[in-house]
Amino acid sequence: MTPPLGLAEEIYRRASDARRVVSSHARKTPLDYSSTFSKMSGSQVYLKYENLQKTGSFKVRGAIYKVSRLSASVKGVVTASAGNHAQGVSYAASLYGIRATIVMPSTASISKIEATRGYGAEVILHGANYNEAEEKALEIARKRGYELVHPFDDMDVIAGQGTIGFEILEDLPGVETVVVPVGGGGLISGIASVIKRLKPSVKVIGVEPENVPKFTASLKEGGIVEVEARPTIADGLAVKRPGKIAFDIVSELVDDIITVSEEEIAEAMYLLLERGKVLAEGAGAAAPAAVISGKVNAGGRKLVALVSGGNVDLTAIYRLLLRGLARAGRIASMRGYVPDVPGTLSKISGVIASMGGNIVEVIHERTDMRAPAWHTALRLVVEVPSKRRAREILEELGKRGYSFELEE
Ligand SMILES: Cc1ncc(COP(=O)(O)O)c(C=O)c1O
Repeated sequence: MTPPLGLAEEIYRRASDARRVVSSHARKTPLDYSSTFSKMSGSQVYLKYENLQKTGSFKVRGAIYKVSRLSASVKGVVTASAGNHAQGVSYAASLYGIRATIVMPSTASISKIEATRGYGAEVILHGANYNEAEEKALEIARKRGYELVHPFDDMDVIAGQGTIGFEILEDLPGVETVVVPVGGGGLISGIASVIKRLKPSVKVIGVEPENVPKFTASLKEGGIVEVEARPTIADGLAVKRPGKIAFDIVSELVDDIITVSEEEIAEAMYLLLERGKVLAEGAGAAAPAAVISGKVNAGGRKLVALVSGGNVDLTAIYRLLLRGLARAGRIASMRGYVPDVPGTLSKISGVIASMGGNIVEVIHERTDMRAPAWHTALRLVVEVPSKRRAREILEELGKRGYSFELEE
């Protein structure tokens, strides 16, 4: 077996070669200082925006390099993926005029299926999860003689992701810490192999969801172990076991792997959107989450957090925004019992409007048997300027005989 250092050296060599290929088909994504996140974290925080990459994530880099290295006689490529890798491979294959078949689990989101088809691949929906889709992809590879493109456990795919490392060092030579999300580990392996080779003093830190802590568990065990995958908003990181190559590279080169909670990821997605106008998917917000939560702190020095992707369903964003607004006290849910007579609602809404509240939902719960006679339960969801204003509205309604309580 190749010793780990040889492996990193080989990845570095291929990543140097990948730069030329990747840069002619993918974007050099921006790396910008974030004053908001710097203030919140006490480090000088820079974000690198792979959510602005072609296909919406960094995955296209590895796919382009991998496909560019296939022999001219290849009949086609096949892979299994529910997300970003599917779009990356579909796009890369179309660049080189190669047939691509992507097996997606039938649970994959409509928008990702449509995007993958949109780049030209044949999409086959099969199985209830990634593993079942992967079996089908292997069968297709065998039957049709197609080349299988693994999402992370592949030297060329890893080298393609490593091109991000060159861009970071080029744009921010004084960087001291780089924070990267970790799924199967292809992304961090590529970046660490490049950065540690060119500037070994830079710390490389991986971030994975608390709900799928495969690297944390495997490093503790000293060998690859499989963990249970509890649901996570960072679906791109929901891989149960580290890749083989990645495990060797991470053991050797990565300074630390830390975990973030679902709340921390959701909060980071919300802040990125509200303050930074940046749309990140769950996996894409994991590295910023580690910084905002204070779990990674570069002590006032320069740190880069990778926003690795932005492919997220708008319905998920809608739910996230509602929760975030409620947490920030900008949406108040109030409930009370009010007389069930004409005009009540108009009086109540008049008070709310005069105090700057905007009613977005009205629910009469007439089946609530706890309501006094001739009363109905009324629940109002109201946009308010602040938590304090919501309390003032309740006080004012109370003075007029309408007793409401704020629901948490
Ligand atoms: C947006 C995003 N970030 C990070 C990752 C993790 O990449 P890797 O599996 O190479 O660790 C993925 C993987 O799908 C992803 O889609």
